[in-house]
Amino acid sequence: MNKVEQTMEKTDAAGGEAGGLGVSFEGGRAPGKKPTLTTGGQPAFFSCWDIHAYYGESYIVQGVSFDVREGEIVALLGRNGAGKTSTLRSIARVGSPAVTHGEIWLDHKPVHDMSAYQAAQNGIGLVPEDRRIIQGLSVEENLKLAQIAPPKGWSIERIYDLFPRLGERRTQEGTTLSGGEQQMLAIGRTLARDIKLLLLDEPYEGLAPVIVKEIERTLEEIKNLGITTVIVEQNAIAALHLADRAIILDMGQIVFDGVSQEVLDNAELRQQYLAI
Ligand SMILES: Nc1ncnc2c1ncn2[C@@H]1O[C@H](COP(=O)(O)OP(=O)(O)OP(=O)(O)O)[C@@H](O)[C@H]1O
Ligand SMILES: [Mg+2]
Repeated sequence: MNKVEQTMEKTDAAGGEAGGLGVSFEGGRAPGKKPTLTTGGQPAFFSCWDIHAYYGESYIVQGVSFDVREGEIVALLGRNGAGKTSTLRSIARVGSPAVTHGEIWLDHKPVHDMSAYQAAQNGIGLVPEDRRIIQGLSVEENLKLAQIAPPKGWSIERIYDLFPRLGERRTQEGTTLSGGEQQMLAIGRTLARDIKLLLLDEPYEGLAPVIVKEIERTLEEIKNLGITTVIVEQNAIAALHLADRAIILDMGQIVFDGVSQEVLDNAELRQQYLAI
């Protein structure tokens, strides 16, 4: 077993703990609004409905429902602690927070019944805030690791075309990259898998403005390629310029769902929920 395979085994074991929701949806539905975005009578490409999630006793995600159309970019915004990361983690089925209720559908498949590993295999691509570059592996090995289990997404060369800096540093150990380069690697690694929904948690966090601009340009390219994306960002203005639609969370509940421009135009709304 080579280094990449060994790491894959470890990653699998860690990701395999979360099982299906193991809850019955019959009769026990909390009041919630079923997402209504449909295309020609068909369910939306991605849909989550009435998700409730807990860390231990702490009730954090409190009945979140929203849809994403295929090819759309949605900005998921809200103050610190509003529940944005928890919502992404719930969708990616990572096990913490524990989702106790709700439905999550992607391209007609019930993600709520899947483990984190299965959700990833079925097209959920979470790029976590901490980037999780694997220690001891080069840039290229990090990318290869993402492709070890089919279905494969982008080729490694295509990822280098999108992020030339990664190509230049292909043999460098991933954890020694700069913050911006690590963010590129984290995104590249996700594109290396065959994803249907890209979930980005604060891709600009901790990066210098010039690097933010560089990542922004890449995300514009990703948008033009029609990759369905949910982006969480403290830099709400940047996210709103990128996104078609915005969802604002406050204390674990959705308080706004509409076009991005509406948030850009509404200073009162921004002040109240985003403090900007
Ligand atoms: N592992 C955990 N155990 C207990 N509580 C948690 C845990 N992770 C997050 N929380 C709590 O859940 C709430 C929502 O956190 P979450 O990380 O989802 O917020 P966020 O909107 O992503 O905030 P930020 O903008 O600061 O990243 C917060 O009150 C946080 O303290
Ligand atoms: Mg967060």
